[in-house]
Amino acid sequence: MAKVALVTGGSRGIGAAISKKLKADGYDVAATYAGNDEAAAKFTEETGIKTYKWNVGDYDDSAAGIAKVEADLGPVDVVVANAGITRDAPFHKMTKDQWQQVIDTNLTGVFNTVHPIWPGMRERKFGRVIVISSINGQKGQFGQVNYAATKAGDLGIVKSLAQEGARFGITANAICPGYIATEMVMAVPEKVRDAIIGQIPAGRLGEPEEIARCVAFLAADDSEFVNGSTISANGAQFFV
Ligand code: CAA
Repeated sequence: MAKVALVTGGSRGIGAAISKKLKADGYDVAATYAGNDEAAAKFTEETGIKTYKWNVGDYDDSAAGIAKVEADLGPVDVVVANAGITRDAPFHKMTKDQWQQVIDTNLTGVFNTVHPIWPGMRERKFGRVIVISSINGQKGQFGQVNYAATKAGDLGIVKSLAQEGARFGITANAICPGYIATEMVMAVPEKVRDAIIGQIPAGRLGEPEEIARCVAFLAADDSEFVNGSTISANGAQFFV
């Protein structure tokens, strides 16, 4: 029977590429989205991948959504916590709201996504938890105190989960994408973006599919000994 994969924020950007790659690799895929019904409907129409709408920042909403996915497709074997937002501002201008929204989605959202699935993975003695962190969680970024804090926190989550899950056949790993050609990066002012591209030795933005390849590797059955690790995919922009 096909394994089931859940990808949060899986209908757009990096998440859409991950959903499509996992489907192509034979998984039954569920992709979640937060608000853009039109984009989600178009994505389902084009790919045949089912989409589910919930707010990853809300625990009860996430638990109910995951229960629905499991009723439709079966227990989740692979969970990709990808949903993320930016609310960039220099620290002196950052509002409490900008801080809280990013914490709720990018950090608490990972807890809310993995926690309801975790007991089943332990029982079945198999699981793949993959968290999409960021280069900016590794190095920090001007204008992203909130975002960098969550993405660094995501690395703490996987390193801890790896230790708890290993004896149950569960792995937890992170991917730190650099700057990838998505709407999120395109929203950065052009001048700032050009300066960032100038700092990437590869001389270009990454493609969402280059992150999806990393996910497929971590999700595989025979990747069990890769646990608690971080894959950096950033065109040589930054080394840990
Ligand atoms: N380093 C040093 N100084 C910088 C700077 C930087 N990277 N960026 C801006 N500044 C300077 C400006 O030149 C300006 O200087 P002056 O006052 O002397 O002119 C000062 O900081 C403040 O600038 P502003 O008051 O104009 O700031 P702003 O309110 O317009 O906000 C910003 C600027 C929103 C932070 C903008 O610089 C920005 O969007 N930066 C990009 C942040 C970024 O990289 N985000 C990543 C988004 S993609 C993503 O997050 C995906 C991923 O995982 C990689």
